[in-house]
Amino acid sequence: MSHQPADQRVTPDDLLDSVAAILAGEPDLIANAANVAALLFEALPRINWAGFYFLRDDQLVLGPFQGRVACTRIPLGKGVCGTAATRRETIVVADVHAFPGHIACDAASASEIVVPLLAGDRLIGVLDIDSPIPDRFTPQDRQLVEAVAALLVRALPA
Ligand code: SME
Repeated sequence: MSHQPADQRVTPDDLLDSVAAILAGEPDLIANAANVAALLFEALPRINWAGFYFLRDDQLVLGPFQGRVACTRIPLGKGVCGTAATRRETIVVADVHAFPGHIACDAASASEIVVPLLAGDRLIGVLDIDSPIPDRFTPQDRQLVEAVAALLVRALPA
């Protein structure tokens, strides 16, 4: 029996299985991040951007993504990405226009989820997904995106 909403393209379990399959045996972060961004962008309905920023010194620098051209550097503590990175916790923003300091890469974006990539205590970067729909991301989406981020980090060499 299917539990997903009518416009859901795959079940969360199927998506996690696909992520695990594309990461299997491949330790390269860039290659894996590129494929994860592509998978998420294809699988999640009603999103307009999915991708990564990686920590370089004290800034987040754009990594692999799907969607429109985005800003390349985000200082720690700035925007939703920089805030999630500094706090080292997931931030779900129902209305980006109400988030102080939100960085608008695509004016169409209305809601956003940012999950930090943490290897133990080490911050690697963030996984960012934007939607043109206000309040797009549910607690189930948060669980799913956090699980995807954890799989990506686990694929890194020790
Ligand atoms: N909105 C983000 C910037 C990155 S783009 O959405 C791709 C932020 O406020 O950090």
